[in-house]
Amino acid sequence: MAFSQEFLDELVARNDILDVVSSYVHLTKKGNNYFGLCPFHNEKTGSFSVSTDKQIYHCFGCKKGGGVINFIMEEENLSFPDAVRFLAKRANMEVPEETEDREASRRRARILELNRAAARFYYENLNAPQGQAVLEYLKKRKISRKTAMNFGLGASLDQWDSLLTAMIAAGYTKGELLAAGLVVQNSKGRLYDKFRNRLMFPVIDVRGDVVAFGGRVLDKSEPKYMNTSETAVYSKRRVLYGLNLAKKTKRPNIILCEGNIDVITLHQAGFDNAVASMGTALTTEQIHLLSRYTKELVLCYDNDGAGKAATEKAIELLRNTEFSVRVLQLPNRMVDGQPVKQDVDDFIKLQGREAFEAILSGSENQVEYQLAAVAGKYDLQNDAQKVEYAKEVSALIARLPDAVEREIYAGRAAAKAGISAEAMQLEVKRSRQKQAGRERSALRQEALNPVRQAQPRERSIHYTDVRSAMAEEGVIRLLLRDESLYPLCGGLAAEEFSSPLLGKIYGALLSCQGEGRCPGINALAPLLTAEEMDHLSGILQKPEDKSRSRQALADYIGIIKDACQARRGDSQVDPLLAAQEKYKTKKGYGGKQHE
Ligand code: GTP
Ligand code: MN
Repeated sequence: MAFSQEFLDELVARNDILDVVSSYVHLTKKGNNYFGLCPFHNEKTGSFSVSTDKQIYHCFGCKKGGGVINFIMEEENLSFPDAVRFLAKRANMEVPEETEDREASRRRARILELNRAAARFYYENLNAPQGQAVLEYLKKRKISRKTAMNFGLGASLDQWDSLLTAMIAAGYTKGELLAAGLVVQNSKGRLYDKFRNRLMFPVIDVRGDVVAFGGRVLDKSEPKYMNTSETAVYSKRRVLYGLNLAKKTKRPNIILCEGNIDVITLHQAGFDNAVASMGTALTTEQIHLLSRYTKELVLCYDNDGAGKAATEKAIELLRNTEFSVRVLQLPNRMVDGQPVKQDVDDFIKLQGREAFEAILSGSENQVEYQLAAVAGKYDLQNDAQKVEYAKEVSALIARLPDAVEREIYAGRAAAKAGISAEAMQLEVKRSRQKQAGRERSALRQEALNPVRQAQPRERSIHYTDVRSAMAEEGVIRLLLRDESLYPLCGGLAAEEFSSPLLGKIYGALLSCQGEGRCPGINALAPLLTAEEMDHLSGILQKPEDKSRSRQALADYIGIIKDACQARRGDSQVDPLLAAQEKYKTKKGYGGKQHE
């Protein structure tokens, strides 16, 4: 366990969640809870709640939640130990000697140090004879030496273990290289470099740490890119490529584009406000991160199907946030009378920076972009198509929360098709009514369908046995509410849980309680990822009848045990055979000891 539990208990006691959250969010009391505008998804109606008796926060909109330490981790973008230090400072408490937590942060520090050493190694390869292929490639892509240096670009060599050898010689261990994701292991246990013969892009976070790498091939082979997978220092949901530089821009906005190369080309052309999300859809974590640096985003995805889909998704995610969003559409290039798609990189190289500056300042806001996209689908000279256009465009306008905006855009959309503004307003009104009706019935559906409602939103927490998982959630909810129930859990083991996450939480609570510590949500903070903690805070929102908690607990335990029995029966392991196997291996092991 990281910090001593006594310390954490006192820390949490001295940092009341209501006080802490109130310094970030304006809260008003409603019933037993406090409500306000969620700081994590920036909405217009408050679905963010704080419960003082449970000492947790939970947003019914974006489903984020946890204890006071999680709140600071999210809000200040800090690791668990840093959030603890932050709260200690706030409460004027001295942070005691950290034991195992020190070990974990030492390991993280080593990985960061190793990543930096690897970045330097790749960078220096550009001057070595074996790195010439990458240098040639940079020339071909018109990336200058100065830009390459600014981004710390480098070369991984066309060898199996050049990085491995160099880093071992520099004092790093194989374990550290594996933990950093810089080397991988084949089925025979042999280690080799993950990145070979690639142009290397170090991924640097806003603190200036090298947290990961991307590597691009120099030809047309596949996969085009390899990126570091998740490590102790890297979560791709939380990082944007280039933000370490873009955060210092003097420009009023940040440009989101698709590729690493696009970011580099833009910076080289003077657009030092470009970032990219490295081949994944924009995440809420990245939006939260961006909100520290700008209030205006320019989406500049490729002008193809995938790029358009990414643009729509990002607009959806940014709806109802404080960001103003504009969409920059790259024109197609005409070659022999045919339109050819181009990305930012092509555009800058062919048309120059002034041309880009011009479309950047003329880029449309998200509504204009969507309206134009709909209009582009129809032939507005044709009456039947006009009708279809009016239907689709009014549905889009109907979703705008602001009445004035609805009126303005309805007028504009009407003019575009030569329809009267009044007819369009009417159509918008009808769409709004239809949408409201649909939302109500979707809510009813959801309430009527407990299984679908029960399935976690986060895909990685998927329940394989929903009935058992509901009972497992119940056990956890009861234990977190009432410590006197622990003795009644005697016969239930974490291994009997169907959900690995819920089993982990249950096991942690038991061992906490067994060691005489307070098994609250804050004790779980260091063990769970942010997504897992969000999920747990959701579990705690569900009602539980306090007066009959003993009976409820017994029922839950019964359900879990039955389901576990059923699963074990399914796996068709003959218990007798299994016991014999175990005996044999034990004997073999013992025999060796006597040799
Ligand atoms: P160029 O084709 O050289 O212009 O590369 P680019 O950097 O512009 O990349 P592209 O637009 O093709 O892709 C966008 C981003 O998606 C890249 O920067 C990568 O981070 C990521 N990406 C692309 N291809 C792959 C792949 O094969 N695997 C993975 N993991 N990521 C990829
Ligand atoms: Mn590209």
